Amino acid sequence: MKIIILITFLLYLTNLTISQKAGKLSPEVHPPITWQQCDANGQCNTVQGEIVIDANWRWVHSDQGTNCYTGNTWNPTICPDDISCAQNCSLEGANYESVYGVTTNQDSVRLDFITQSQGKNIGSRLFLMANETNYQLFQLLNQEFSFDVDVSKLDCGLNGALYLVSMDQDGGMTRFPSNSAGAKYGTGYCDAQCPRDLKFISGQANSEGWVPSPNNPNTGAGKHGSCCAEMDLWEANNMANALTPHPCDTSSQSMCEEDDCGGSASSNRYASICDPDGCDFNPYRMGNKTFFGPGLDVDTKSVFTVVTQFVTDDGTETGTLSAIKRLYVQNGQVISQSVSTIPGVTGNEITTDFCTTQKDVFGDPDSFSKHGGLAGMGKALKQGMVLVLSLWDDYFSDMLWLDSSFPVTASIDKPGVSRGPCSTTSGVPTTVESTDADAYVIYSNIKVGPINSTFKNKSTK
Ligand SMILES: *[C@@H]1O[C@H](CO)[C@@H](O)[C@H](O)[C@H]1NC(C)=O
Ligand SMILES: *[C@@H]1O[C@H](CO)[C@@H](O)[C@H](O)[C@H]1NC(C)=O
Ligand SMILES: *[C@@H]1O[C@H](CO)[C@@H](O)[C@H](O)[C@H]1NC(C)=O
Ligand SMILES: *[C@@H]1O[C@H](CO)[C@@H](O)[C@H](O)[C@H]1NC(C)=O
Ligand SMILES: *[C@@H]1O[C@H](CO)[C@@H](O)[C@H](O)[C@H]1NC(C)=O
Repeated sequence: MKIIILITFLLYLTNLTISQKAGKLSPEVHPPITWQQCDANGQCNTVQGEIVIDANWRWVHSDQGTNCYTGNTWNPTICPDDISCAQNCSLEGANYESVYGVTTNQDSVRLDFITQSQGKNIGSRLFLMANETNYQLFQLLNQEFSFDVDVSKLDCGLNGALYLVSMDQDGGMTRFPSNSAGAKYGTGYCDAQCPRDLKFISGQANSEGWVPSPNNPNTGAGKHGSCCAEMDLWEANNMANALTPHPCDTSSQSMCEEDDCGGSASSNRYASICDPDGCDFNPYRMGNKTFFGPGLDVDTKSVFTVVTQFVTDDGTETGTLSAIKRLYVQNGQVISQSVSTIPGVTGNEITTDFCTTQKDVFGDPDSFSKHGGLAGMGKALKQGMVLVLSLWDDYFSDMLWLDSSFPVTASIDKPGVSRGPCSTTSGVPTTVESTDADAYVIYSNIKVGPINSTFKNKSTK
């Protein structure tokens, strides 16, 4: 009895003194958005949701209103260490339209690339919520996910991404009581790169040992990273797109330390518990250079629907993930994913065989199999994942891995190097942020349901 009282008292103290807090200066009002849940007969019901911007984009300040973080550095007085920093700093409510360039209209959301207010905002990362305090979890085994996208304004170097990650539904509040802001303030982000540019991870700040980015005036890397499984349904601009599962040994969010985080901020890219490369299906990289782009089979000059199907070995939601299929619908026509023309790699869907042979033929390390492969991805999908909508440019590699030839030093004749038609000098952030300042992406008409339930097959192309 005494022990229980003591623990309760300690937890009480903990809540009082350690806290990644919510700010009190401007209210956090989430833009509303609807999506649809479909049944096996193709009947769809509208669900009212809302979106929230990731905590990393927010103003972080002390109780006195002083910035905890300015440009790409932390205030050393307010943030002498990760724990005190989380105690001292609050995440402020967001002005979605005027500061972050995010607007919703019924079933659609538009993300502007550059937004000028008092400062310059670059892109955004948003999460779909079930209600004000919880993210929406999608369990997609033996299901399909579809959405419409307008990539017409996304040129080389930009990436409009719609994907799923295994974040905590409440943003980590329950597991980390020192986080009192929670999903309402967009906390808890993680992905398979185990990103180290996050300002808060697992209820503490990431200020200790923070190294400002050499080329990005807004970001840096701390000692900690935040890992979890990631299913990239869509990473694209108007020149190239990729569909990519990235499993992790443990699907749920976990914090990593320094070089053990792997990824681009660490000495060994492959050191983490996650697969940073994934098993990608990019139609251009798989050999079809006339399938996706302006005026091509999937015409990126206008809106189209992207459907992703998660097929299991036994055709039930308790089976093992055996294939990820992609199709598109544009102007009422269903367009199958293009077929690989790479010698030795067959088909137009992601299967274990596709991944193993693709890695082999391209000479890429098979970190996908090492971290669980398709079955591992299936575990995360079964557990439930959070939907992320983002728009970004790339300060590490100019997005060349998506839309150009990469690595730039390799011969473009080597299979797997050529990923899109963009020049190897394109995608430099300082350039695209001025030449493509007006760029935006619109995601709309999100539907989830049994396989073949979210779209109609009137005719095929
Ligand atoms: C931040 O936290 C430290 C340690 O808890 C404390 O000494 C300091 O006064 C705080 N700074 C501010 C500005 O609140
Ligand atoms: C919010 O959504 C979560 C997840 O669906 C649910 O568990 C919770 O009860 C909801 N809370 C409110 C206040 O509706
Ligand atoms: C690219 O895909 C389209 C549509 O599937 C097909 O008609 C065309 O022949 C393919 N081109 C090549 C080079 O495989
Ligand atoms: C979905 O439709 C395709 C094409 O018509 C068909 O081959 C497939 O078996 C269907 N899948 C299910 C689960 O109904
Ligand atoms: C669409 O329907 C046609 C027959 O009407 C069928 O051959 C084709 O496989 C279907 N395609 C998809 C992707 O469902």
